[in-house]
Amino acid sequence: MKVLGIAGSLRPDSYNRALLVAAAELLPDGVEFELWDGLKAVPPYDEVDDVIPAPAAVARLRDALAGADAVLFATPEYNSSIPGQLKNAVDWASRPLATNVLRNKPVAVVGASTGAFGAVWAQAELRKVLAATGARVVEGEVAVGHAQRRFDADGRLRDENLVVQLQEVVGALAAEIRPRAAVAA
Ligand SMILES: Cc1cc2nc3c(=O)[nH]c(=O)nc-3n(C[C@H](O)[C@H](O)[C@H](O)COP(=O)(O)O)c2cc1C
Repeated sequence: MKVLGIAGSLRPDSYNRALLVAAAELLPDGVEFELWDGLKAVPPYDEVDDVIPAPAAVARLRDALAGADAVLFATPEYNSSIPGQLKNAVDWASRPLATNVLRNKPVAVVGASTGAFGAVWAQAELRKVLAATGARVVEGEVAVGHAQRRFDADGRLRDENLVVQLQEVVGALAAEIRPRAAVAA
């Protein structure tokens, strides 16, 4: 079983990437985690380019999503919404709509921002967008506000309440993939 982690930030020192690393450590035994790092390479969506074969970076995105049993997104908030590069990647992933790689895929959304509210608006919008693709959006939220104070020098999440919340979301996401794995076994 594999969970793919996608951070909506391109910054090497991203708090959202650190949040995914923290989440990986909380996954149940037997669940593999892969941090996807191809976001910056994904071109702007253009329907003219959305053909077979897909642009290489898009093919890598779709393959990574198709190969995962579940996806954990960690999004920053840009101007009260989803960063453009993340929305763009979901748009590519969402086509062709009927058979897109996110359809029926368990997904969960968490987020971190340096503002007070921990990217709650961006998280809500990302859940809405993911639901539109047909993904199975798992309930639960982790809103890491004032992110610059929540991670230690090694990038570890140091707020116990947030760790508990993250564990709940990660557990709920893992629980969603277990039935599918059981069916396949
Ligand atoms: C263009 C832009 C818009 C932003 N808008 C918001 C915002 O609406 N709310 C907020 O809390 N933080 C906002 N921020 C601050 C981000 O929360 C902060 O840069 C955060 O560290 C980004 O996540 P990262 O560390 O994963 O890159 C904004 C940052 C940028 C660059």
